[in-house]
This record gives sequence, structure tokens and C-alpha cells, in this order.
Amino acid sequence: MSQVTNKVAVNAPAHVKQQKLIQWVADIAAITKPASIFWCDGSQEEYDLLCAQMVASGTMKKLNQEKRPNSYLACSDPSDVARVEDCTYICSAQKEHAGPTNNWMEPAEMRARLAGLFDGCMQGRTMYVIPFSMGPLGSPIAHIGVELSDSPYVAVNMRIMTRMGKAVYDVLGTDGEFVPCVHTVAAPLAAGQADVAWPCNATKYIVHYPETREIWSYGSGYGGNALLGKKCFALRIASNMGRDQGWLAEHMLILGVESPAGKKHYVAAAFPSACGKTNFAMLIPPAALDGWKVTTIGDDIAWIKPGADGRLYAINPEAGYFGVAPGTNTATNFNCMASLTENTIFTNVALTDDGDVWWEGMSKQAPDHLIDWQGKDWTPAIARETGRKAAHPNARFTVAATQNPVIDSAWDDPAGVPISSFIFGGRRSTTVPLVTEARNWVEGVYMAATMGSETTAAAVGQQGVVRRDPFAMLPFMGYNMSDYFQHWLNIGKKIAASPAELPKIYCVNWFRTDDEGKFVWPGYSDNMRVLKWIVERVEGQVAGTENIFGITPKFSDLSWNGLEFTQEQFNTITSIDKDAWLAELKLHSELFEKLAYHLPSELNTVKTQLEKRLSA
Ligand code: OXD
Ligand code: MN
Repeated sequence: MSQVTNKVAVNAPAHVKQQKLIQWVADIAAITKPASIFWCDGSQEEYDLLCAQMVASGTMKKLNQEKRPNSYLACSDPSDVARVEDCTYICSAQKEHAGPTNNWMEPAEMRARLAGLFDGCMQGRTMYVIPFSMGPLGSPIAHIGVELSDSPYVAVNMRIMTRMGKAVYDVLGTDGEFVPCVHTVAAPLAAGQADVAWPCNATKYIVHYPETREIWSYGSGYGGNALLGKKCFALRIASNMGRDQGWLAEHMLILGVESPAGKKHYVAAAFPSACGKTNFAMLIPPAALDGWKVTTIGDDIAWIKPGADGRLYAINPEAGYFGVAPGTNTATNFNCMASLTENTIFTNVALTDDGDVWWEGMSKQAPDHLIDWQGKDWTPAIARETGRKAAHPNARFTVAATQNPVIDSAWDDPAGVPISSFIFGGRRSTTVPLVTEARNWVEGVYMAATMGSETTAAAVGQQGVVRRDPFAMLPFMGYNMSDYFQHWLNIGKKIAASPAELPKIYCVNWFRTDDEGKFVWPGYSDNMRVLKWIVERVEGQVAGTENIFGITPKFSDLSWNGLEFTQEQFNTITSIDKDAWLAELKLHSELFEKLAYHLPSELNTVKTQLEKRLSA
């Protein structure tokens, strides 16, 4: 089938059977005016071809084949290095539906603005048609999207991050639903104009229309701004689908944890960006905790739907990891380093003289010389003098989940895995204790709703500032945050009314520091000690002590085999400082004032109870 629109032939391949999809591609091509259209089939040959083209054009470098087979390094424009929350919009029909935590614009006004911007934005470039499934193909928990992008970097990353390719069209058939995602780097090329290595635009818009389930992204080629299956679809649009259809789209890793007795639980855990979700999801338990095993279902996003038995079943909608490289090494995340040995795309890390990659924290000693992520010479001496990093703090790797040595055997199971507990964790140097179990679902929802975390390099803006990040979803919520809290309460009520047991809810903090600003808790593999307590609590096998905020372990309730950690250190990271908590509860009140519209009254009740307990 072939249609001609504004001089470009649509030329849909024969395996694309859906007329609505073909028409949409033609319509977008008519607006964006690409030089050609490329229908991705998701094959290895296609991936290799696009990578080779990007090596030739200077967008990527091929790494030393001996050291890092089939791997590439891309370095972005220095102005395009992270998610742009200020330019991210939820354009629902009514402002209240986007809520006070989102940027909003009247859909008609935004459409008019974008119409001007998208007109001719792909001139001189190829528009890639990228069909993808979020979740195992055909799973009742999965959903399909199609991204149109003028970035080959996006096409190859989407092949790793999603189930991308021809088979998606079989699931779509002639009338299946898909989320339309339009992405442009917004750097049209005039005839004969030379391209740059990383085209992008100073003007950026990441726009979601929740009612029509559309995504339009303009001006950035980086990460969540451009790989639209990830934050835009799997969280912002999917949270709307979940609210309407009775399921959850969450910024959560999913891991399997198996006891020495062979009992397995699946746990979903929400942490803000760059707070160690990938490390936690691939954790290797300390050798001294004999027989415990952790396996990975996903490291960033969970789609969770109630099953016929009333339990919550989760899938990882993604098929790869787009993780933060700096700080990753064989001690902090051995399995991750093992995943990255081949077939990996690195973005904004440094290049070694022998054609491999390096980032801060990869090894104790930095190489003597590197080419940094901005293409400049870098030496440890230059770093000392200028403070210049070899890798950008938000440098990333993109790698297929199947390369993870501890991938869970059910990671691709269309039915998903049953979740027995939820963990919420922020990055807090003070105030919040190591681990607290909520006494009930509502208290757990309160803990998640009021979570605070220090900001990281994953988003443009100031770092290290505590901001409220409810459910670690602040940048990813596709509708009114208070309605989302209500949705969680409703899900809890539904499970409580079913024969299934309610998952337990926990709040953790790995990041408390001492007077010198040093982390007290060793973290990483030792987080298994907390995870073990959590799983044993779910099994009813271990004690906990009730306090002001919930239930916490005593020192003797955790296993300390193989770790020198004193009762005094434990007290430092579990103590509840009354003044700090009075200040914290004021911040909860401020959050609730901001979210007053539709804020569930149950949450205010929990706050009043906590205030009473604190001042008793
Ligand atoms: C991510 C993020 O890329 O949360 O996962 O920013
Ligand atoms: Mn994330």
C-alpha cells in the first residue's frame, strides 16, 4: 500500500493491516514533512544498520569490539541531558484534572501552539515508525504504542527498552488500540544543510493529552523526553488508563525474593529517579545471609492489575534498563556491570583511550586520560582543578533486560507476578527512619503520599533539595494527585473486600547521614537485611514494635551476620527526632493544603492521629 502525502511516500509494509494507523502516519507526515518514512521491523539487521548510520554521522561511536562487543557511545548536546519537568504538560480538558502538581494548558491552546512548532519540524530527516508493546506481547496487562520519531537514536533505544517490531502489528490487527506518540528533535534540515551529532532545540515541550491518550514531544532527544514508551506512556498516560480501568501504573521496580526455604515473594518498590532502584532490583544478598536470592522483574516501572483471585499482578512494561551509570560498579551493582559487558548503548559517559567507557565511581582510580562526555580531554588533574566530571551525572546505559544475570524466570510472563508488599523510599539525610511498616493500607497510602526526597540529576534543576514526591510519582503523574491517592484507597478497599490478602506497605530510607554527612547505612547488598525483615513480616515470622508512625524492627529483629553494625549506629538511623518530625508534619500539612481539591479525608485523619501521637 502506498500513499503520497506532501511529497513523502508513506509506503506502509504489507504486514501493517490497520488503516487508522496508516492514516495517522500519513497525517503526521503531512504536518512534520520528513524527507522519508522508515517503518521499523525491530530486527537485529535494522538495529545494526541504524547504529552504523549513526556512527557514520557522528551521533555514536562504536566501542572497542574486544572490550565491549556491539556497544556504542552517544554524547548529547550539553543542553539536552535530562528530563525537562518545567516543559512537561498534562493538557487535560479541565485544569483540576491535571491538578496542582502538573503544568497545564488548555488543550486547544496547546494544540495551536504545537501546530506551529510541528509544522515542517522533520524536514530533511527520516521519520521512523516505531511500533512497541509495553509488556509481553498480547498480555492482558500490556498495551501498545506507536512512536513516530525523527531520531534514529530513539529508534534503536526503543528496540532495547520495549518489545518493538513487526510482531506488534499482529497484536494490533485491523482495529487494535494504540497510544499515538509523536516525537521530534525539532531540528529541520534545509537542503544541503549539514547535520550536527545531537540535533535538538532550545524550545522543548513534552505534552500529554490524557483524554485522547496522545503524546507529543518536541525539542529533546534525551531519555524520558524522547523514549516515549517510558515516562510519557508507561506512567503519565497509563496512570490515566489505570484510574479509568481499575489498575495501577507505578514508578516501581519489581523484584522476586526467595527465602532459603524456597518461599518466593514479589515486592514492588517506588523510589524517585536516581535513588538506586536498579541497584535494589538486582541486589546480591550478602554471602552471610545464606540461601536468600533476589531476582529482577523490572527496575523502573510496574503495571499492576487485579487478578481474578483479587490479588494484584504486576508486569514490567519495559524490556530494558535505562539506568544511571555514575556510581555503578562491581561492588554497588555487580549484576548490572555484568549486564553491560556487550550490546549496550551508553549515553554521556566518558571514552577511554582504548575505546571503552568510564564514569565516576566505575573504578576507585580514574584512568590517566579520557575524552569526557563533552568531547574534551579529561585527566584526574583537570578534574581536581576544574571540578569537571568525565561523565555527566545523569549519564545512562540502555541494555536489554535479558542480559541481566538475575532476571526472574517470570519476568516475561503475560500473567504477571503477585505482589505481596509495596515499599516506598526517598533520599533523606535526616528524619526518616530505616524502615517502617504501615499498620494498615490507609496509613501506607499516607506514608507514600507524603514521601519527601532530595532532588537528583535525573531532572534539570537544583539538586539535593527536599521536595515532596508522592509515591515517587511527582514528575510522572498524569492526573490530579489527590484523585490518585483516592484511586489507591479504592484499590485497597477492593482487595479488602476480596478473599485476597492486602499487600503490606513499607517506607524505607537508605540515606541517613551522620554529623559529618557520611551515609550511616551501608546500603546496596545490605538492603537485603531490611528486605528479609519485610518478607518475614509478610510471612508473620518476625517481630516488630509499634511506634508513633507504624511498626519498626528492633536491632535484634534484623540479621547482622557478616556486618559490623552497632546498636548505636542502628539508633542513629532509626531514631525519631520529635522536633524534626514536627517540622516534617508541617510540610505534610503544606502538601495537603496544596492538594486540598479532592484530597481524601482519610489522609487528613491519619495526619491528625500522627500529630496526636507525636505530641502525647
Ligand atoms: C528514569 C527517571 O529515567 O526516573 O527512570 O528519571
Ligand atoms: Mn525512573
